[in-house]
Amino acid sequence: MWGPATGLAPRLTWSVLAAAGRFSTLRSGTTKRKDLPARNRRGLSDFSPQPLPYTDLEESPWWMSKCRSEPGRYITSRKLAETLIKLVRTKRKNPEQLFLECNPGPGILTRALLEAGAKVVALESDKTFIPHLESLRENMGRRLKVVYCDFFKMDPDNCTIAKPPVYVSNELFKDLGIRAVSWKAGIPLKIVGILPFRSERNILWKLLYDLYSCTSIYKYGRVELNMFVSEKEYQNLTAGPKNPNFYQALSVLWQVACDVKLLHVEPWSSFDIYPQNGQLEKLKHREPLEPIQQNLYFIQMTPRKTLFTEQLTPVNYDVFFHMVKHCFGKRNAKLVDHLHSLSPVDAKHILRQIRKNENVKTINMYPRNFKQLFQTIQCSEDYAHKWLCNENLEDSAM
Ligand SMILES: *[C@@H]1O[C@H](CO)[C@@H](O)[C@H](O)[C@H]1NC(C)=O
Ligand SMILES: *[C@@H]1O[C@H](CO)[C@@H](O)[C@H](O)[C@H]1NC(C)=O
Repeated sequence: MWGPATGLAPRLTWSVLAAAGRFSTLRSGTTKRKDLPARNRRGLSDFSPQPLPYTDLEESPWWMSKCRSEPGRYITSRKLAETLIKLVRTKRKNPEQLFLECNPGPGILTRALLEAGAKVVALESDKTFIPHLESLRENMGRRLKVVYCDFFKMDPDNCTIAKPPVYVSNELFKDLGIRAVSWKAGIPLKIVGILPFRSERNILWKLLYDLYSCTSIYKYGRVELNMFVSEKEYQNLTAGPKNPNFYQALSVLWQVACDVKLLHVEPWSSFDIYPQNGQLEKLKHREPLEPIQQNLYFIQMTPRKTLFTEQLTPVNYDVFFHMVKHCFGKRNAKLVDHLHSLSPVDAKHILRQIRKNENVKTINMYPRNFKQLFQTIQCSEDYAHKWLCNENLEDSAM
């Protein structure tokens, strides 16, 4: 619909800028302060804009995560596998639904999916399990494909390093014969797995960028994720004004993009741990870093058909990201103050348009309110440039 988002600032640039606590929007629809027409500039000096500090430093590049040596967590209970299948299968509509299973390990869920009639691609990042999965394929027929691949590291920024187990989705999906469908069409495929515990957050951020830009797996349409995440991450993802302690930019961006549904809660102890690239032998002791008491939350994240609009597109989504992150840089500050440093538009007028009190704070806004806010600013006709950015940073980042 919008074509590939070419000329996107590399993610690294964004992360670096974000981490530097600066204010810069690099893309279409933004402007430098000095380029503003005099009318706007006058308006600006009235409220002497002061960029608010941006404090979300948690978003480090995903490839820097230490998950490499993290022991794998696997589904080894047949009963659990059957429970999950009941939750993720949409039997009537599409009996041959395609599933991509991330790191199936011993293949308990894989087998159960095949027995239920699904087609499965097993993406396994630990070579030790490959022969075992291949033998499953011999027994279970052609509805299973086994690929040595790390789903959670797919589509690295530097594609020249993409060889197994790190893959580029284009190549992988071509090999698998998966075709892109339009955003409004149905779900092209479902992905099922367990988010690696230590890099959950980084992976969730990477997926968000992919989703809003319709790149990587989301180039193929509204891919549905069915993932186990930790209890804490679940709280963060689904937080809102009613649980402000967990509410953050990540919550807003995921909830705007997807229908996030809790399907099942499973005690952590139901899963078995194997050392990465070790023998097929369970780890005796638990990693000290693992939260022994936690439950794992099995959630479904289905991208919304209505995510993209005239105002929010895969081309300008990064301005929306910036707006949200900026607002959460000072979550208890008034939105009006954030708007003053984000945009030359009349902040109070914008708030009236979205029916918010002028004292409203970041943490009082529901996720959908942030989308409304962004769209309203994008629609404001009086301003040629809707967003401000810091000129020094823009120059250095270009
Ligand atoms: C990409 O990776 C290759 C091989 O590791 C390296 O030679 C090259 O400099 C990298 N390119 C960038 C832009 O990082
Ligand atoms: C949840 O959010 C809080 C507050 O931002 C953060 O400190 C914590 O690390 C997050 N938890 C997880 C599991 O990401």
